[in-house]
Amino acid sequence: MPAWRKITDPSRRKLVAGLSATLALGASRIPASARTIAPAAPFNLTSHDGRQLRSDIDFAGRPMLVYFGFTFCPDVCPTSLVSLSAGLEQVSSQGRDIADLAFLFVSLDPDRDTPERLAEYVDLFHPALIGATGTRAQIDAVADAWKVKYALGAPSVDGDYLVDHPSYAFGLDRSHRIVDYLWHFAPPAKLADQIRKILSS
Ligand code: NI
Repeated sequence: MPAWRKITDPSRRKLVAGLSATLALGASRIPASARTIAPAAPFNLTSHDGRQLRSDIDFAGRPMLVYFGFTFCPDVCPTSLVSLSAGLEQVSSQGRDIADLAFLFVSLDPDRDTPERLAEYVDLFHPALIGATGTRAQIDAVADAWKVKYALGAPSVDGDYLVDHPSYAFGLDRSHRIVDYLWHFAPPAKLADQIRKILSS
């Protein structure tokens, strides 16, 4: 059983959330240069169902929630996606239409995160979640433009490796400007507030 399957088990979420918050204390701060509202450069990637995804065409005029991670991530990615999904469900359950929001998980690990693997992965979290991958060059283009710092860890003896990555999602308004950051340790109610603001942007 892959680690992320176990972690999405609700009985383990509380434990994982605590662990992830601890891990995040010293990691992945938002770079000073990324703190102001800025246009998000368009990207060109491939979706989990094999379609080409061009953000400026396929999501034109729609607000976006974009998280960068990798499906083999043992804790932070599943925590983030569970929390963001819970935030979305809170917004939705209060009668707000969330269909307009593009919710994306962009892989920083294209060697392992094939569209097929992403399809299985996103299915664990939220029906609206779209997995995106691409060539390393395509992913680096968006990572550089959005100031997403990431690093591949040294492989273990069995070839496994971690990817150090930010633990916040980018919130984009309808003009695809980065207007907010949604942290993986924020409670769903706080994330729901942030999502409502992005939807109203
Ligand atoms: Ni992760």
